[in-house]
Amino acid sequence: MPRMESPRAAGIESIGIAVPDAYVDLADLAAARGVEPAKYIAGLGVTRMAIPSVREDAVTLAARAGERALASGAIDPASIGLLIVGTETGVDHSKPVASFVQGLLGVSRSARVFETKHACYAATAALQMALDWVRSGSARGKKALVIGADVARYGLRTPGEPTQGAGAAALVVSDSPAILAVDAGLSGVASEDVLDFWRPLYSKDAFVDGHYSVSCYLAALEGAFVDYRRSAGADGSAAGFTDRFDAIVYHVPYGKMARKAHQHLRRCDGDADPDASFDRMVAPSLVYPSLVGNCYAASLYLAFASLLAHSERDLAGRSVALFSYGSGYCGELFSGTVAEGARERVRALAFDASLAARRRLPIAEYEELMRAREDQDRMPRSDDGEGIRLLGVEQHKRVYAR
Ligand code: HMG
Repeated sequence: MPRMESPRAAGIESIGIAVPDAYVDLADLAAARGVEPAKYIAGLGVTRMAIPSVREDAVTLAARAGERALASGAIDPASIGLLIVGTETGVDHSKPVASFVQGLLGVSRSARVFETKHACYAATAALQMALDWVRSGSARGKKALVIGADVARYGLRTPGEPTQGAGAAALVVSDSPAILAVDAGLSGVASEDVLDFWRPLYSKDAFVDGHYSVSCYLAALEGAFVDYRRSAGADGSAAGFTDRFDAIVYHVPYGKMARKAHQHLRRCDGDADPDASFDRMVAPSLVYPSLVGNCYAASLYLAFASLLAHSERDLAGRSVALFSYGSGYCGELFSGTVAEGARERVRALAFDASLAARRRLPIAEYEELMRAREDQDRMPRSDDGEGIRLLGVEQHKRVYAR
């Protein structure tokens, strides 16, 4: 019998986050739509939503987050052997967002570069692929850069409007997991062909069967939990399985969804009082999402960064579960152990200060921006501005600058 070798350790070595520098305050939006502010703020659990300028898109957000993840871990772009961007708001039917990011960040020419799509699950699909690439030894000492980047956009005056947002989260994945060592072989998946949320090729706005999408999310969570428990070889009838986790991070389309998810998961796990563990296990992960809104593929990892930065307890050495949900649907529950010093590394990103420095958009300006973004794909070139940005579109080619 050949000897089975245990897989290499693999996980997240560093994180970078980028969001637009303007936001809509949900109290302003509620006033403009004639809705009680409490519906958006308490009812949905969102206080601000990030709104990108016409010079921002999934490419610029992904590149900015990627640049921060590399800088945060002092990682040379030449050491990246795999670059994947998970997005559902890509900018071209053929050329992947990841290729533009490769050019903007100077990632090695010998890197494998591509885009993944499955609604908000896209970055998790990429992360799992990168982890297996590292564990199998195919990485040969190189690292992967996995980025989730999206602009979450629904029509003006639709029920989805208060659940928009935009942002990117970049993860360097390697065999030196200085943030999270991801458990090998422990994962639960549930997937099904449904139409709860979709965006046809002709539309910039997503369409959604809102309340149905909530029930699909919960069905995926339950299925993924049962499958995860199976992967751990646990007895399905025993209660309290999730007590092994110090925190659970959920995909956050809006904060209330994470509360519903936690209630559902804990009830499935035999807990008659699921709210009792919410503040300890979930609340710190909702600080950033409540100030950014949904950013689809990036949302789970924005919530994970929030957990590390805002948890009063240092979670070093503790076990954390993450639940990724992508409409359509595919859900995955996986877990890992937080590394020593992870909290300090994430706090050093000073993301709270960046969020506080953003500009509050008047509603009229937000609505104008939404209209202007409709024509972004034909925007004439202008070299104004600074930093990583879309200069415009020339002869059907998007031109970016840093
Ligand atoms: P709605 O129907 O306008 O809102 O849209 P509602 O009537 O359901 O109210 C929302 C909550 O506010 C309710 O709480 C109300 O009780 C409460 P709940 O019963 O759910 O606990 N409320 C109030 N609370 C305090 N004071 C008040 C007040 N009034 C009402 N005065 C909906 C809600 C989420 C459906 C809508 O915003 C929507 O369609 N959003 C987009 C879809 C979405 O985010 N779905 C989530 C699951 S699917 C997912 O996560 C995937 C996704 O990220 C996409 C991807 O995978 O790419 C979306």
